[in-house]
Amino acid sequence: MDSTRILNLGIEGPQDVVTVRQRARQLSSMLGFGQQEQVRIATAVSEVARCVCRHVYGGRALFTLEQTGRRRELVVTIRDNGGAERVALQSGAEPDVLGKQFDTAIITARRLMDSCEVSYQSDHALTVSMVKALRPGQPVDPEHLAALGAQLAASPAATSFSEVQQQNHELAGALAELRERQDDLLALTRELEDTNRGVVALYAEIEEKAERIRKADEMKSRFLSNTSHELRTPLSSIRALAQLLLDRMDGDLSVEQERQIMFIASAANDLSTLVNDLLDLAKIEAGKVEISIAPIDVGNLFSALKGMLRPLAQNPRVELQFVEPAEPVTFMSDDGKVAQILRNFVSNALKFTEDGEVAVRLEAHPDPDLIRFAVTDTGIGIKPDHLHLIFEEFSQIEHPLQRGAKGTGLGLPLCRQLAALLGGQVEVRSTAGAGSTFTLTLPRRSALQPERTA
Ligand SMILES: Nc1ncnc2c1ncn2[C@@H]1O[C@H](COP(=O)(O)OP(=O)(O)OP(=O)(O)O)[C@@H](O)[C@H]1O
Ligand SMILES: [Mg+2]
Repeated sequence: MDSTRILNLGIEGPQDVVTVRQRARQLSSMLGFGQQEQVRIATAVSEVARCVCRHVYGGRALFTLEQTGRRRELVVTIRDNGGAERVALQSGAEPDVLGKQFDTAIITARRLMDSCEVSYQSDHALTVSMVKALRPGQPVDPEHLAALGAQLAASPAATSFSEVQQQNHELAGALAELRERQDDLLALTRELEDTNRGVVALYAEIEEKAERIRKADEMKSRFLSNTSHELRTPLSSIRALAQLLLDRMDGDLSVEQERQIMFIASAANDLSTLVNDLLDLAKIEAGKVEISIAPIDVGNLFSALKGMLRPLAQNPRVELQFVEPAEPVTFMSDDGKVAQILRNFVSNALKFTEDGEVAVRLEAHPDPDLIRFAVTDTGIGIKPDHLHLIFEEFSQIEHPLQRGAKGTGLGLPLCRQLAALLGGQVEVRSTAGAGSTFTLTLPRRSALQPERTA
């Protein structure tokens, strides 16, 4: 650390305080401090000097420029001539208390300077050291500064009158600046008020939009539920009538007639699956699904599913198997809903597998309170970046097998909703080209009461 001594002034009486103040300002101006900083430094230095002059036998003010690496600081050290304690003792006060004015002066200096340290030497002499860092890049030549210091020391000191004039001048400047800042602040407050008003208006708009979306959603559910109901009745009539015709209840059919009626029956069946899925989704969204919780035996569940799904397993190159657990397993849930989810999984697996097998089994779960079903296939698999899409309504992944397959992309979204309703979840693991595993994880004991309606 380099230290250049610039000025050393004695403080014996009030006139010296005026001089110290003046020199502090002049020096800080030479060091490139701005107008405001000059006033700050001069005020801090003169406040401390004033206390030293009033309370003890005088002292000295030392101005130095210190440089540590690229950092340069103006350090003003004010030291008394010792005997602070003596003075205090003589006047009957507490030994180390220089008085309230001194404390106030130190607080002021701390506010105005970067730092202000007070220390007592062994002979009870007092040292106050105040530091202010120079602006980086401010050109200062230490030798030139020392010469300036000497010049300052030699030049006549200001009279109290001229210093008061100077202080008034500074005060007027400070007041003007204060007014400017107040105006700025006022402008800023107005701007903030405007912004606030804008934000409030925006919130109102967002709320209105949210309400509109909620209403639209409600309407969509209601529309779906109504239209699905309206569609179901005529659809069942078409299916029943087609069956009657196929059963030759109204007489014989030509080959062409039979072909066409079978076409009508199959189209009506597809349409009714779609309508059922739509109705189920709409009901779940409207919170109108009934859940009945009862004990389910996994073996029985698998047998029922086997019967239901046999008509779908038409491809001789794909084996559909149900792996029964070695020990009987029971859990509490809604068997209709569980079967619906697994049925969807298996129908997908059969749709997207050309060779190999589709297996339904229980998978071990680390949490004993949960049970997990897995439907594994050796089909086309799903690419990682498509995995999140398949649970979205109406989304289907482009593939040659997809073209020949039936469906609308409602099966998996329905599975997800149903699983959530039962307090569980559906997940998928898949490798494109190798196959997929869809899992359904459920609580063994449902949080819903048995036979209760949700
Ligand atoms: N096991 C699977 N292997 C490969 N892709 C699958 C499998 N299961 C589902 N997918 C992909 O996810 C898409 C969405 O499945 P989802 O069951 O929701 O609809 P879908 O089967 O096409 O029609 P829906 O179930 O409504 O009849 C499928 O179209 C398919 O692209
Ligand atoms: Mg499906």
